[in-house]
Amino acid sequence: MRRGSLVQLLAFTAIAFAIGAAVALLVPWLPSPASKEAGRIWFVYWFATWICVAIFAIVAGVCVYALVYFRVKEGDLSDGPPVHGHTTLEIVWTAIPFVLVTAIAIVSAIVLAQDGRAGRNPLRITVTTQQFAYYYTYPNGKTYFDALRLPLGRHVELTLESNDVIHSFWVPEFAQKSDAVPGIHNKIVVTPTKLGTYPIICTQLCGLGHALMRSRAIVLSAADYDAWYKRPIAAPAPAPAPSGGGGNAAAATLFKTTGTCGACHTFAPAGTQGKVGPDLDHLKADAAKAGQPLEAYIKQSIDDPDAYITPGYQKGVMSGSCCKQLSADQVDQLVQYLAENNK
Ligand code: CUA
Repeated sequence: MRRGSLVQLLAFTAIAFAIGAAVALLVPWLPSPASKEAGRIWFVYWFATWICVAIFAIVAGVCVYALVYFRVKEGDLSDGPPVHGHTTLEIVWTAIPFVLVTAIAIVSAIVLAQDGRAGRNPLRITVTTQQFAYYYTYPNGKTYFDALRLPLGRHVELTLESNDVIHSFWVPEFAQKSDAVPGIHNKIVVTPTKLGTYPIICTQLCGLGHALMRSRAIVLSAADYDAWYKRPIAAPAPAPAPSGGGGNAAAATLFKTTGTCGACHTFAPAGTQGKVGPDLDHLKADAAKAGQPLEAYIKQSIDDPDAYITPGYQKGVMSGSCCKQLSADQVDQLVQYLAENNK
């Protein structure tokens, strides 16, 4: 091969490499990693990506060179020269991909093994899923409904459980992802490396509220986490006070956390915006449509959701598990809370 040709071939390859690298680097394909596990997975992505960009550059460079310099001259209808196999070339282009793919497999296997390691003393948290909410139980037995709080830099082992159908736990910034399957206790390890609030997303189609099944992971410094963890949890909601005020606040907490009602229902007094079920600001009108007194209608809707379906909604959505964890007292508090705020 002439020296000039080689320079041209290299120039085409360099241009193709620059285009490939620009597409890889300038488009924000991945969020910035917020866990040790994500850092390792990102390393695998980039390892594979740079191999792909290099191969793309070589193939594109040779193609462009061939298109430019081996074009058929106009009016030349003769056959091309008969070309037979080239054993050395074939061995080379089989051996190189074999080595590269094997390297990717080895790196992936190492990362997979490391990302599954929880260390000697992980923080163990149970993540429970149900249509259409998450809640989190800590080693001290306390359960939180609003968010998953994690300490910076500590191995956390999450055990995923489901009360009804298959859900999923995914935080893009943590990269770790697994399904929550009824009867199976899947585990994933997360070691947060960056303070902040990250979305938790359900990625398994789990019913009408699937698209709205979201929660938050909050990464706190070790000191902030300890302070939060040692804080006594709010006492169980007392019976609503006749004046509304304090009782209303307790009932709002019951509505939002224990009952997880807000995951599916909009209700202005509680500040929730769920869209899966009927808007609970219109209970009075709905009770009238059902031909029932307001309080009886609300109680029936919690105890036996399928007894009457608000027009425009479907049977079987609410009759899962969400209300079964409420005590009779709690149901009464919710009925009162909803009725009082619908007068
Ligand atoms: Cu739970 Cu989708």
